[in-house]
Amino acid sequence: MNILILGSGGREHTLAWKLHQSQKLTKLFVAPGNAGTAAIANNIPIGVNDFESIKALVLEKAIEMVVVGPEDPLVNGVHDYFLNDAQLKHIAIIGPQKAAAALEGSKKFAKKFMIRHNIPTAAYQSFTANELTEGYAFLETLKPPYVLKADGLAAGKGVLILTDINEAKKELSNMLVGAKFGNASTTVVIEEFLDGIELSVFVLTDGVGYKVLPTAKDYKRIGEGDTGLNTGGMGAISPVPFADKEFTDKIHQRIVIPTVKGLKTDGLPYKGFIFIGLIKVGNDPFVIEYNVRLGDPETEVVVPRIKNDLVELFQAVASESLDSLALELDDRTAATVMLVSGGYPETYEKGKQISGCDLVDDSLAFHAGTIEKDGEIVTNGGRVMAVTSFGEDFKEALKKSYQNIDKLHFDKMNYRKDIGFDL
Ligand code: AMP
Ligand code: GLY
Repeated sequence: MNILILGSGGREHTLAWKLHQSQKLTKLFVAPGNAGTAAIANNIPIGVNDFESIKALVLEKAIEMVVVGPEDPLVNGVHDYFLNDAQLKHIAIIGPQKAAAALEGSKKFAKKFMIRHNIPTAAYQSFTANELTEGYAFLETLKPPYVLKADGLAAGKGVLILTDINEAKKELSNMLVGAKFGNASTTVVIEEFLDGIELSVFVLTDGVGYKVLPTAKDYKRIGEGDTGLNTGGMGAISPVPFADKEFTDKIHQRIVIPTVKGLKTDGLPYKGFIFIGLIKVGNDPFVIEYNVRLGDPETEVVVPRIKNDLVELFQAVASESLDSLALELDDRTAATVMLVSGGYPETYEKGKQISGCDLVDDSLAFHAGTIEKDGEIVTNGGRVMAVTSFGEDFKEALKKSYQNIDKLHFDKMNYRKDIGFDL
């Protein structure tokens, strides 16, 4: 079958790499893709939210399945767009419909869902601009630090954690009245701070059955020791060593089962990945967020550990027969380290020539912000490349990634040398 992947990051290169291994694949397209996907698929210069151009491409290339990488097109209703079009409605879409994508598109919607289905999460209240005084009063009832979340999509920047009550009140006003995050902060969720270590778990569901994919931990801050600004993710490890059987059983029973069941009860159509952001408080898991897609760079460590044919898994999602397949996983640990442009996550330069890609040995170099220009691979974004390796434990895996990183070079290349430091 012909398959189209929407997106252009390391997540999409990893999905392309995995789908490319399937006997069931005929032609693979990626829109818009990067230099990594160009080597194994056909890149098409179309934006992920340009539904009309996506439709034309799907019809022209006889594409039978669309795998949606990022959240934006899902929250904007790409799945519904296909279902509502007579020429497209038979095409399999991996990614939930708009109503369910609100689990990521609205923090308030996600909190209400969790409370309704008894899924452990931080206590919260939500406020709009005309409830500013009530918001201040709620802050007064909480202990610091204070967690303020813009309700809508804010490119990963919409969460503020503040230690000072006056600062928290000022920021609440900036968000609600000053539109600090534009429309995304018309509503703000204020929640109780949870103190613990973070991890994520990924679930693939067809709306009826589900498969729990491995746990992963990503490293979001730019600086070593988890310091400095937040990024999209600087590295990841899977599985998470502290998530032992007892703890993952709790995640399964208290969170995964009620989430999948809750989607069904609420009539929220879901065929795709659920990314559950968790925090381990004491020995108990709490949900901090849902995303309606895979994570990046978590995908670069989770997907390589799946032994199944990914086309077969996705076909089972489309035909609601996921329960008939057994998930097979690689027991080894996978670790990835993200190479980023100097200056990222603030301003950085693009167009730097990347050398050494052909020297990478016993690791997988997944491209993120890269592009081919005049026969050279050059940087084209903040996060440039994720170097993934396997090992018996995360230290062994990381050692291989760092050895290969020594062979890679571009001007002002930066990366964290301490992935896994807290484990
Ligand atoms: P989110 O976009 O919801 O994942 O939040 C971004 C980051 O803020 C998370 O990765 C956590 O590090 C932190 N965070 C969010 N909610 C809480 C909370 N209730 N308690 C502590 N930290 C939180
Ligand atoms: N690495 C975090 C995310 O993909 O949202």
